[in-house]
Amino acid sequence: MAISVNMRWIAATVVLCSLLAVGQFAEDKPCERRRAGLFRSIVCVCNSTYCDTITRENPARGTYVVYTSTHGGKRFEKSYGTIKTLPEQRFDDPGDLEPEPEPIQMDFGAGELKNLPDPPFKQENDDNEEDEDDDEDSEEFKRVADRPELYDILTNVVLRIYPSTRYQVIEGFGGSVTDAAAINWRTLSEATQETFIQTYFGPEGIEYNMIRVPIAGCDFSEYPYTYAESPWNDATLSNFSLTHHDFFLKLPMIKRAQSVAPDEIKITASTWSPPIWMKTNEAITGFAQLKREYYQAFADYHLRFIEEYDRFDVKIWAITTTNEPINGIVPFVQFNSLGWFPHQLGRWLADNLGPTIKNSRFNQTKILAIDDQRYLLPVYLAGMELAAPESIDYMDGVAVHWYGNFFPPQILSAIQNRYPDKILLATEACEGSMPWNLDKVILGSWRRAGTYVKSILQDLNNHVVGWIDWNLCLDPIGGPNWVDNFVDSPILVYKDRDEFIKQPMFYAMGHFSKFIPRGSRRVRVSRRSIASIENVAVRKPNGNLVVVMQNRRRRPMNVEIRISSSRYIDIIMEPRSIKTIEINP
Ligand SMILES: *[C@@H]1O[C@H](CO)[C@@H](O)[C@H](O)[C@H]1NC(C)=O
Ligand SMILES: *[C@@H]1O[C@H](CO)[C@@H](O)[C@H](O)[C@H]1NC(C)=O
Ligand SMILES: *[C@@H]1O[C@H](CO)[C@@H](O)[C@H](O)[C@H]1NC(C)=O
Repeated sequence: MAISVNMRWIAATVVLCSLLAVGQFAEDKPCERRRAGLFRSIVCVCNSTYCDTITRENPARGTYVVYTSTHGGKRFEKSYGTIKTLPEQRFDDPGDLEPEPEPIQMDFGAGELKNLPDPPFKQENDDNEEDEDDDEDSEEFKRVADRPELYDILTNVVLRIYPSTRYQVIEGFGGSVTDAAAINWRTLSEATQETFIQTYFGPEGIEYNMIRVPIAGCDFSEYPYTYAESPWNDATLSNFSLTHHDFFLKLPMIKRAQSVAPDEIKITASTWSPPIWMKTNEAITGFAQLKREYYQAFADYHLRFIEEYDRFDVKIWAITTTNEPINGIVPFVQFNSLGWFPHQLGRWLADNLGPTIKNSRFNQTKILAIDDQRYLLPVYLAGMELAAPESIDYMDGVAVHWYGNFFPPQILSAIQNRYPDKILLATEACEGSMPWNLDKVILGSWRRAGTYVKSILQDLNNHVVGWIDWNLCLDPIGGPNWVDNFVDSPILVYKDRDEFIKQPMFYAMGHFSKFIPRGSRRVRVSRRSIASIENVAVRKPNGNLVVVMQNRRRRPMNVEIRISSSRYIDIIMEPRSIKTIEINP
């Protein structure tokens, strides 16, 4: 008797828990669509009283939940399915059709800055999405379209996931609190500021858990500044002071984000330019290195920043060793910079920055080296290691930007192989920054969302632990920026209407940030078909599998995902779509 009462209790509790788990009785608010123009996708409009939301559902055992966004206008649309099992037999397994690529060999030689690849200055007219041709195999496809057996080969993808082959632990995803982002956010009413923070960081938003913040100004500021411009040559930094940009813009935005985020937000900070008296050219930009006598002062400058932010209860999780050190070496950069040759960076890290941070009470702060494009990493690491081997011990990892992504991503795996105990973090990315991007902002561009997803997938598949986007938001022309270096952003702010719009890039980020929590581990995926599709798979701390896939083609693809030797799911990837699938095996 007692037992059956207990059983009923348990049954009721189980039903209630699964109801709670499935959607917490909450209906997601749909995207308030606005057309962005011919051939473009839509944008979603948010204001003081309305913004679309997304709640993550817990699939019951043996089932999965799919979230879909498409060029056609779906945004995190939910659907459900059950894992299928082969009745008796196992898959007739043809073996791996895509062996793990050999890591590319890299010359970690002399560490000199020469023979850098030329950027590909090809003309890409991406302001008209009609010209877009993501369909790599479309010609081939046309030729076989009337031959059904070949049609099947080109549209059927089979992937096999190996949940027990685990790679890097994920730290998270996020965006940057630049002056420009905070200025735009601040032009909104109090209530609209709140919907903005909720949609990026809140439990019904895309749950960003990483932020990058510039140490003083960068190009996305109204004018250049640092924290210790005067007195001149004061190596003691006696007058180091944060500015109103911190007090009224960056710190409030960070603190509001922290107050709604379900998880800790890990903050990475980077200097663009030190006080100009520390630099050989005594100017904010141009060809310059750090004056030798101020190596220690510049290390102390970073510690002072960490201390000041700590006073506001904002913990700095990581610092980078200076934003894009190549910018102070090459002739064409017009904004805040500091040049480092590899051997100089190695010496400064080994003799000054490393000991300063690690002997301070902020000894837990991670130091991420280089913070520049992919193709520069080997040459910097080699030069640093050659000049000061201890510099490698002082760095916790390497930060990488996306503007050199024409260079193959396998270089990241090669670095991971060589430095297995270091992390790789992607710290900056944006669309519209290249000289051939005539339109900096392209409202509703699906192509740009696709480029984000492709880049994140490549990075994750090459051991990157997290991915931080550039400006959280910008104005409709992609600013403000004191050298007019305007770019695109996932959110654009329209202050006159007290509203902001979320571009396809916002959802591209959300397909990762919302569904891949910190502590997830990437797992192995191999392809068992001729046709392929961009993908990544991770195992969440709770044991569920999360797969993110993208179809950039203009035709649907059938995808079979095998999660064991006899269990699988079938997914149809709509044309130009992104899907996140959470599977409870
Ligand atoms: C906010 O957007 C919603 C949905 O589009 C609309 O119904 C509402 O009137 C807007 N509120 C304001 C204050 O503009
Ligand atoms: C200290 O810095 C402030 C700006 O933050 C500046 O106005 C002031 O003149 C500086 N003091 C000295 C003694 O240089
Ligand atoms: C790191 O700093 C803390 C104080 O913040 C101190 O207690 C600890 O001993 C330090 N650890 C090392 C390895 O120096």
